[in-house]
Amino acid sequence: MKIKKAIFPVGGLGTRFLPATKSMPKEMLPIVDKPLIQYAVEEAADAGIEQFIFVTSRGKSAIENHFDHSFELENNLLSKGKRDTLKTAQEMLKIPGSFAYVRQQEPAGLGHAVWCARHLIANEPVAVILADDLISGSSTIKQMIDNYTSGNMLAVMDVDKRDVSSYGIITPGKALGNNVTEILGLVEKPSIEKAPSKMAVVGRYIIEPAVFEILEQQNRGASNEIQLTDAIASRIGSSNCSGYKFSGERFDCGSKLGFIQANIKLSVQRSEMKKKLKSWLQDEILDGKI
Ligand code: UTP
Repeated sequence: MKIKKAIFPVGGLGTRFLPATKSMPKEMLPIVDKPLIQYAVEEAADAGIEQFIFVTSRGKSAIENHFDHSFELENNLLSKGKRDTLKTAQEMLKIPGSFAYVRQQEPAGLGHAVWCARHLIANEPVAVILADDLISGSSTIKQMIDNYTSGNMLAVMDVDKRDVSSYGIITPGKALGNNVTEILGLVEKPSIEKAPSKMAVVGRYIIEPAVFEILEQQNRGASNEIQLTDAIASRIGSSNCSGYKFSGERFDCGSKLGFIQANIKLSVQRSEMKKKLKSWLQDEILDGKI
């Protein structure tokens, strides 16, 4: 099935990253030299997404500027003959009108953020991508779209038992083939004792139009927020709900540890840094000097 639109909720406060995120959007934090949100947009573009819908909030205008021309910069690079750098600065631009921005006036939760985009979505399934969940390798949302038939599909992965209370946790059902598992139940941030499995939802979703109708009810769940997973869970039994076990490595870049790990891993993969960084890590970290 062709899915043309993706929602990027970027309205959160990013409190785990203060003070860095006091006036800068969390989604603009760089992994090596590229902001998180650009990785997310590239992943969507690789999946054939044509309309990119951002749910922003106060203080997030750096995201809009990032995906626009910077004439001063471009003229400067052009006059200095720095064509490769110019290309890098321009390649995030998409055809006019393909980026849309709506404001979430208060950070009332992920479900609320997605609901804020409702007027930009017709009667069609839509992708939802959380930029702070960085997944390396080939486009995860493309893998999901390729395997999507109907209903709701969520990216899932195994997590440590002690971490289940930070995630939406699924009750897995039968295998539906090709890394897809049926979801029989879904609970947001359960205690270790109440978690139905260790299989957690991470930030990639394909949601059906009916989810917006549930979100319309504005029901609050865990952390007193309007949870996307609660709305999806309430559709189980009425429509298909499946989990997609993606192949890439996922980094929780909303946490300091995940952000540092992503930076190290992706830096080591860069040919210009690989040798020097690996030898520095070996000498300074592994040999226990610091
Ligand atoms: P998080 O759960 O990481 O929340 O949101 P957060 O507010 O960004 O960060 P912390 O927990 O305070 O450090 C996951 C994604 O959902 C978006 C965030 O911007 C992030 O991309 N989000 C969350 C919203 O757009 N609106 C919200 O009300 C909550």
